[in-house]
Amino acid sequence: METTILVTGGAGFIGSNFILHWMAQEKTGVVNLDKLTYAGNLHNLQSISAEQPYQFVRGDICDRDAVRELFARCRPQAVVHFAAESHVDRSIHGPDDFVRTNVNGTFALLEEARAYWAGLSASEQERFRFLHISTDEVFGSLGADDPPFCEITQYSPNSPYSASKAGADHLVRAYHHTYGLPTLTTNCSNNYGPFQFPEKLIPLVILNARNGKPLPVYGDGQNVRDWLFVEDHCRAIRTVLSRGKNGETYNIGGWSEKRNIEIVETICSLLDEMCPNDPVVPHRQLITFVKDRPGHDRRYAMDARKIERELGWKPQETFESGIRKTIQWYLQNDPWVKEVTAGSYRQWIATQYS
Ligand code: NAD
Ligand code: DAU
Repeated sequence: METTILVTGGAGFIGSNFILHWMAQEKTGVVNLDKLTYAGNLHNLQSISAEQPYQFVRGDICDRDAVRELFARCRPQAVVHFAAESHVDRSIHGPDDFVRTNVNGTFALLEEARAYWAGLSASEQERFRFLHISTDEVFGSLGADDPPFCEITQYSPNSPYSASKAGADHLVRAYHHTYGLPTLTTNCSNNYGPFQFPEKLIPLVILNARNGKPLPVYGDGQNVRDWLFVEDHCRAIRTVLSRGKNGETYNIGGWSEKRNIEIVETICSLLDEMCPNDPVVPHRQLITFVKDRPGHDRRYAMDARKIERELGWKPQETFESGIRKTIQWYLQNDPWVKEVTAGSYRQWIATQYS
């Protein structure tokens, strides 16, 4: 078995941040299997040099033959599985792709990983890991005074997206329990940072504010999310991969609960300072309350004490420092922004916010 990891969905937001982080820290090679849906963007990985042990393979995790061939050719010591349909609003408009990729795709990957793992030597089997990246949304919605989600909180998914991720989590659990496949699962809260596709709240608000467009806040803006800077998530994944206990799940979060309206107001204040010549200043004039997301979960919060206690990980970035870095990144990467906001992006925005 080579010292290679197989990353799925590595051209997406977190996957590409993870590959860049991994290449900067580890000598191990990376094979990135990505279908390049609307959310996948190879420009995110442009800074990887030709000398680095990195390979991109365009393919679908649902394609069992392609996945089998890839396992045989790359002989990975680990799989880090990010590939998914990830946007809740899109899952409400069209759940099919979510069930296909998140449930059937994870199943296909597990089946091929199991067959590959069965053919390894005992020491290679011992070393192999299948790390599944999941979300806090599988736990459902919290009331204002409820304690945060912990690893044994009952699953209670509310959207087609979270239900499909919950289905995938259960399959991963079953493959460990039934077949002994060495798995790890991480459930993380909302990420933000460089390369996030501007259908998600933070990049959408940054870009709309710069362009003098309305900043759509769903419902009363009081929904709460627990925000984590993406690099902290990447460090957590690397930590779990190297030291996580076979078969365990780990919650990852930023200890940073914020109401959506606070997020939008913070971005507006920072942009007032950083971009005083934008078309509409103060930017908060653009805040527009719009129709709520159907089934909108009220509050998420993560109890991340297990990963801190057992593996020594905790977030390094505060929301205040992370959001400043994130805004700066979007201001400095106009070509990236222009490229991703062309074509089908416009169609999505027109459908969602009409
Ligand atoms: P993303 O939508 O930005 O990227 C998903 C990537 O998967 C894209 O590159 C896409 O091309 C690829 N992909 C989709 N379907 C595929 C298929 N069938 N075969 C191969 N590749 C396919 O997603 P993200 O925000 O980077 O999230 C990555 C993972 O982390 C997901 O599993 C998501 O559920 C989970 N997660 C995300 C967050 C968050 O805040 N973004 C938080 C917790 C967990
Ligand atoms: O909690 C982890 C999850 O975080 C991940 O599993 C998902 O993949 C990721 O997309 C994210 O889901 P959310 O639905 O929480 O993220 P989003 O950025 O879409 O929305 C964040 C909050 O902001 C949510 O309460 C809905 C609200 N919102 C979102 C958009 C796009 C608005 O008020 N207006 C908007 O235009």
